[in-house]
Amino acid sequence: MKYGAFDDKTREYRIDTPATPLPWINYLGNDGFFSLISNTGGGYSFFRDAKLRRITRYRYNNAGPDDGGRRYYIREGGEIWSPGFLPCRTPLDRYQCRHGLGYTVLEGEKNGLAASLTCFVPLGEACEINRLTLHNRTGSPKNIQLFSAVEWCLWNAPDDAQNFQRNYNTGEVEIDGSVLYHKTEYRERRNHYAFFSVNAPVSGFDTDREAFLGRFGGWDAPAAVIEGKSRNSVASGWSPIASHSLELTLAPGESRTFLFVLGYCENPEEDKWEQRGVINKAPARAMISRFSTEEQVRAALDALKDYWDSLLGRFQIESGDERLDRMVNIWNQYQCMVTFNLSRSASYFESGTGRGMGFRDSCQDLLGFVHLVPDRARQRILDIASIQFEDGSTWHQYQPLTRRGNADAGTGFNDDPLWLIACAAAYLRETGDSSILREQVPFDSNPNHTQSLFEHLRRSFRYILTHLGPHGLPLIGRADWNDCLNLNCFSDEPGESFQTCANFESGKAESVFIAAMFVKYGREYAEICRRWGNAEETEKALSAANEMEQVVLRSGWDGEWFLRAYDAFGGKVGSRECEEGQIYIEPQGFCVLAGIGLKEGYAKTALESVKKQLTTKFGTCLLTPCYTSYHKELGEISSYPPGFKENGGIFCHNNPWVSIAETVAGDPEEAFEIYRRTCPAYLEELSDIHRTEPYVYSQMIAGMESTRFGEAKNSWLTGTAAWTFVNVSQYILGIRPGFDGLELWPCLPAFLPGYRAVRLFRGTEYRVSVKRTGGFSIRADGQPVEGHLIPPAPGKSVREIEVTV
Ligand code: BGC
Ligand code: NOJ
Repeated sequence: MKYGAFDDKTREYRIDTPATPLPWINYLGNDGFFSLISNTGGGYSFFRDAKLRRITRYRYNNAGPDDGGRRYYIREGGEIWSPGFLPCRTPLDRYQCRHGLGYTVLEGEKNGLAASLTCFVPLGEACEINRLTLHNRTGSPKNIQLFSAVEWCLWNAPDDAQNFQRNYNTGEVEIDGSVLYHKTEYRERRNHYAFFSVNAPVSGFDTDREAFLGRFGGWDAPAAVIEGKSRNSVASGWSPIASHSLELTLAPGESRTFLFVLGYCENPEEDKWEQRGVINKAPARAMISRFSTEEQVRAALDALKDYWDSLLGRFQIESGDERLDRMVNIWNQYQCMVTFNLSRSASYFESGTGRGMGFRDSCQDLLGFVHLVPDRARQRILDIASIQFEDGSTWHQYQPLTRRGNADAGTGFNDDPLWLIACAAAYLRETGDSSILREQVPFDSNPNHTQSLFEHLRRSFRYILTHLGPHGLPLIGRADWNDCLNLNCFSDEPGESFQTCANFESGKAESVFIAAMFVKYGREYAEICRRWGNAEETEKALSAANEMEQVVLRSGWDGEWFLRAYDAFGGKVGSRECEEGQIYIEPQGFCVLAGIGLKEGYAKTALESVKKQLTTKFGTCLLTPCYTSYHKELGEISSYPPGFKENGGIFCHNNPWVSIAETVAGDPEEAFEIYRRTCPAYLEELSDIHRTEPYVYSQMIAGMESTRFGEAKNSWLTGTAAWTFVNVSQYILGIRPGFDGLELWPCLPAFLPGYRAVRLFRGTEYRVSVKRTGGFSIRADGQPVEGHLIPPAPGKSVREIEVTV
């Protein structure tokens, strides 16, 4: 069953009912100011950091999973309703939501009054614009009252939800005509405030939640709205809000547009105040004046659309398969940008109050957006590298606001260092800009202690080599990519973190997965050394990677598939000798994509085992058989009921590894099937089973052994976006950035006769046409090319590339 439809022309997903299985959301914002917005107008906003600088409140774990955001109430003829259905819940005569790239439109109609609400964050601005148009479609005049409402968060989101003994006393606001300011804690150490404005005189306002809602009123039916009368309340402590009320009469056929601005401003310390106790409103006034007319707002929306046109224009295909095209051209790249901005911090599943930006996560996200915003990718690599320690290990996360390591998540995830090599190599392949290797980057954010990025990479590589276990495989530490395989954390304590209670430093538990990463990225590192380092380090790196490959073949092979790990007692994990968890997906995908076991035939055998044991119609499961009871020597993985999350769920992130592995091993049909099985656009008709948004990937789909097989969770913020884009663009379509230029390695399934693509690479537009003829050949600008690399042609801004396969 479908709840809407794709509109590829406008690059929108149109939703036809508020009653989607879960809130289906979108992201607004590009750099500083971000908002989440659901198909009913719920969500929340923050500046840079969803934990430390939250602007509006969101109630997690609510009954009715959607809440918050921008609330609008239309009161006409004794009835109240909301353009996006919530918060009022009044049934609408017509409803539609359109999620586009960086904007969302909610349209509702009741009794001949149509409301259209467009929400977006303009480029380079710290505000969300809400353009609300009311249109009287009847033959008689309408007297209307319009109420707005946002609820302020007292900045620090976890503190806001806990520290009531203090927070009920600190709330402060200022009111200046139609602009309602939130200035809690501005009197002391904060130099920032927020505001909510409308470009029309108001008939009333409220800034105190209780006054607005009434003692027993809720957001669905605030007392002030029910009675049609704002209280003009001035908050002092308790819960500050911002609500306007406006009155208007619309003649038959008449429309009227209001421009609301939810803004965030900072002042320099010496310029905080206009006068004693009165905040300096100059930046707010300037911001409001930039969005006070419809022309200004239209221009800002057009600029946003142009921005997305030019970004996505860097990689576009025409394949004849409309679902493939829409994912590659629009939604997959869009999701990559969202994960770039937010890592795993803020979604409807990630509260934004816990995790900052993951080291491993951000490095992998970069693989999916480096072709879109190479300059921002460069800065991101330097930011990430600066939380590394001198020995090459690293904090596991950092807070985007402070850019410092997050002590709560700690250190000791032993795959982390290698992801830095992965993302630096991706950047070098995309841009050829080796100057990044010479950038001075701090260790542990200490500006007085820096080394070149190259040296950071060297230490990443060294860290693995100096932390090997009894079989010569890398030690796993607290966990590797699989956060829940905690072989050194033996937890008995209810509620304790499985990952940070490292209490069993066995010095024995080893990871075959990290070994595979070491082979893959060790060779990338060797290539970087060969080009920009020295011969001795190149040799060392190559021979270490080659040696690790041998170790995997010797000690990481189980007979029909690759082992997952050795536990703290030297026991096998992911072996046919195990009672449960006999085969894991990660080493099968990663060993094969790293080229391990290709010659020996292990690669094919491992992929056959994946097909037989892990593959389902909804995707490839992480492991089987699922753990049916808690094993403290394995950790969190065995804490999940069978089929959920890491315990045998279809963890979408590592499905592309297997698909890439299939291209490496030479099976284009299975490679594409794996791509298709978890690809949201191909699952649109199954939205009642899949339940999350059909335009973006989710982290997990419940696996075959679960009670809810096929149901997805944790949409949006997942490494699946980046890895899938790497897979489909570089391995299936085969347009692959190389150190020396663009390479072409198409590996197409039989149903695709070819495709056309435009790919911007190092300032040149490559127009690629691939046709299936039965033999491989490339011509660049009419000239035959040997091999897969298109030799660069300096000075040419457009290249015509014809490929046959
Ligand atoms: C989840 C993992 C996640 C980890 C770290 C676990 O509970 O299952 O997917 O990576 O927490 O936040
Ligand atoms: C989600 C985390 O964000 C990611 O870093 C991890 O690799 C996966 N879960 C698997 O545990």
